[in-house]
Amino acid sequence: MDITGASAIVTGGASGIGAAAARQLAAKGAKVVVADLNADKGQELAQEIGGVFAPVDVTRTEQIQAAVEQAAELGPLRVLVNSAGIGWAQRTIGRDGEFGSAHDLGAFSKVIAINLIGTFDCIRLAATAMSRNEPDADGQRGAIVNMASVAAFDGQIGQASYSASKGGVVGMTLPVARDLSASGIRVNTVAPGLIDTPIYGEGEASEEFKANLGKNVLFPKRLGTPDELASMVIECVTNSYLNGEVIRVDGGIRMPPK
Ligand code: NAI
Repeated sequence: MDITGASAIVTGGASGIGAAAARQLAAKGAKVVVADLNADKGQELAQEIGGVFAPVDVTRTEQIQAAVEQAAELGPLRVLVNSAGIGWAQRTIGRDGEFGSAHDLGAFSKVIAINLIGTFDCIRLAATAMSRNEPDADGQRGAIVNMASVAAFDGQIGQASYSASKGGVVGMTLPVARDLSASGIRVNTVAPGLIDTPIYGEGEASEEFKANLGKNVLFPKRLGTPDELASMVIECVTNSYLNGEVIRVDGGIRMPPK
């Protein structure tokens, strides 16, 4: 699918994998809407790539809709990348046998609200706008790429909420692709392994932490780069025969229990 002159929304586009995807989409000729909570970094990147920043919290439907409308004004909205996401680490129960020490239910709900429901809300609103596009010669109107995680399959100790949210994204990939097939919109999901982004913090301690994490990767024994993930996002967008699939990009890692 050719995206020259089309508009593209990247949620979580101000940082990490989303920022790399935004840069690569812009390099392919798309007008990118960087949709993120972080206005400073989002605006800076939008300026760098000739796109626009939209202040979006993916738990706020009206903000998503405003970003979709903004994108559709720049050009036909043909691309949505859902990269906004948060993590949370907590075991299901505490060590002291007290009910009050069990997993924070508000935190569980928040992770689901952002990573899963937020992703679906962006899909349903962006796909509605895409369904109005003129189809290309292949009948295509758009392509959607979600960011899950290998934690959808091998969630570690403390990852109940995160794995549930990403497992939900994996689970809805095929049915949503089926729903949108009549409109010529493809849906794929990328499941990253351990990728070197600000999600792991910055500074000496985090560099050491990341170097240790890299030892668990099958090959190459290092963290992935945001560009290696963004390259798969571009493939999902531009390869017209890729649909309804979940693709691990993880150096072959299978996460151990902890
Ligand atoms: P990051 O922390 O560098 O970027 C995430 C971006 O999402 C940030 O700019 C943040 O402001 C934005 N964001 C957070 N909550 C938001 C909300 N409610 N509304 C709008 N924007 C929001 O993270 P990274 O590493 O680039 O992660 C991107 C995606 O990839 C996430 O969904 C993450 O779960 C997933 N992932 C990352 C992995 C890694 O090792 N870095 C591994 C597996 C999955």
